[in-house]
Amino acid sequence: MSEKRVAVITGGASGIGKHTAIKFASKGDRVVIADFNEKLGDETVAEIVAKGGEAFFVKTDVSNYEDVERLVQTTVDTYGRIDVMFNNAGIGRLTPVLDMDLNHYHSVINVNQHGVAHGIIAAGKKMRELGIKGVIINTASVFGYLASPGTFAYHATKGAVIMMTKSAALEMAPYGIRVIAVAPGVVDTPIIQGYKDQGMVDEMKQKVMGNKLTQPEQLADTVYLLSLEEASAINGSVVMADEGYAS
Ligand code: NAI
Repeated sequence: MSEKRVAVITGGASGIGKHTAIKFASKGDRVVIADFNEKLGDETVAEIVAKGGEAFFVKTDVSNYEDVERLVQTTVDTYGRIDVMFNNAGIGRLTPVLDMDLNHYHSVINVNQHGVAHGIIAAGKKMRELGIKGVIINTASVFGYLASPGTFAYHATKGAVIMMTKSAALEMAPYGIRVIAVAPGVVDTPIIQGYKDQGMVDEMKQKVMGNKLTQPEQLADTVYLLSLEEASAINGSVVMADEGYAS
């Protein structure tokens, strides 16, 4: 029997990341959940283990490169390999550009942009070192290319995720490592459940075909499919998982 795959999932304690961790584990992959929310991370691990899956939690702040390097090394020390890196942790704080506090701007960039860069670099280096033809999947957003009010910093980060994906894919292809971005539209997770202005969520919902919120399980299914060998022709692409979100 071939060795089990190992998938690292940042932001794996909640929402899209949590459901992706559950999906990979249900398919027999070993899962490493990385998040700075220890309580929710432990709960997700317990849920996976209770269903017979294999997982452990590593407390990680993706905005800190040493943390992400340690995450990747701990994964390899524990399971011997790393096949999938899902750079998904993100924050969605809203502030109009003309009310922008620079600390707010930098905090969004640090997590959503630098956090993804750290994961691409640390996982890519380790996959190359071990000769693993792995896959790195990054969470972008429709807001990586469509503008909406109040999301100046968020737009900047998601646009960056798209171009970092294309750039890294180009350079990692010779090593057999794929790099892909997945771009959700409006997903029913705590990030949007926490918006003070739920009227804004209703407006976004109306831009989705069928006027509905995408469920995090649907994103988990998409990420899982992209990780498979059968998706080997998908590389450097931004895969829209937005149910037709229109501006
Ligand atoms: P969520 O809030 O349920 O999950 C985000 C997770 O990231 C949380 O567990 C949080 O603790 C973790 N996290 C935040 N900062 C971190 C850090 N510095 N280090 C480690 N972990 C950190 O939200 P959701 O919706 O599951 O978001 C996941 C990704 O999907 C984000 O990148 C978000 O921008 C993106 N996205 C979400 C959409 C939505 O409508 N929910 C739409 C498009 C993209």
